[in-house]
Amino acid sequence: MAVWNLGSINEDRFYRVPRLPGPGETLTATRFSVGLGGKGANQSVAVAKAGSTARHIGRIGPEGAWARDSLKALGVDVGFVIQGEVPTGHANVHVDNAGENMIVIYPGANRAFELPQIETALAKARPGDFLLLQNETNLTREAAQKAKEKGLFVVYSAAPFEAGPARAMLPFVDILALNEIEAGQLSADVGVAVDELPVARLLVTRGAAGAVLHDHAAGKVHTVAAFPVDPLDTTGAGDCFVGYVVAGLDQGLSPVDALRLGAAAAALQVTRPGTSEAIPDRAEVTAFLDGIDN
Ligand code: RIB
Ligand code: NA
Repeated sequence: MAVWNLGSINEDRFYRVPRLPGPGETLTATRFSVGLGGKGANQSVAVAKAGSTARHIGRIGPEGAWARDSLKALGVDVGFVIQGEVPTGHANVHVDNAGENMIVIYPGANRAFELPQIETALAKARPGDFLLLQNETNLTREAAQKAKEKGLFVVYSAAPFEAGPARAMLPFVDILALNEIEAGQLSADVGVAVDELPVARLLVTRGAAGAVLHDHAAGKVHTVAAFPVDPLDTTGAGDCFVGYVVAGLDQGLSPVDALRLGAAAAALQVTRPGTSEAIPDRAEVTAFLDGIDN
């Protein structure tokens, strides 16, 4: 099956800082680099690296051809990425010496989607395909609704978190992916406990504590521990995890095995600088897991 992704594409601008700045403070970066990012692009790359078919529905600006080329070079089908007048999205990413980050994004083209682009792409999708969504583009609810009508399996990462849009997505989502903080915010907003959120499946990532999948549809809870590593840069690790988990499910793995695959991929991703470019390929993840089993 194919994994479609209505997803953001960003230019990630990395500033390595001794510590994260406070209000009113000016800090000098010790290193600067630029790479491909955006929660959407990162997830598509993870799906492709994991060995599944990733088809990205995206938007870039006049100067963004390089981003489409990078996405393609990383194995993603970019036939549904459109170049328009609105500038490519970007993210200023500050990373401290512990690998922790602080990000400000400017969405640009990622919020300039129009319905026909999404409809044209989804017309090619087949029942049983996946649709990935994040909260960095516009038209997520419309896309989710269309995808459900067509019999797709919808996976939504509600980041950057906003309670209103996240709540509106719940009826159309097969897996809602959140980190622990976002899960707490959404459960406070809806007024129920995290594991009672009205959604088919809830995937909560807990950083170094691993992840939990509440499968309400099947009445099961699956957990996975994080693999302990020394993080260099955790930016994009959550996207890498989600992309790998979805690819695992697409390939018929059990939920627990898909979670384990995602956790291993994320463990490798955080030991490398960058976001999309830091995502390991399947052979590396398999070798890592073999090393743990032996
Ligand atoms: O999740 C990491 C991503 O968030 C970065 O690649 C950045 O572009 C922002 O979208
Ligand atoms: Na990284």
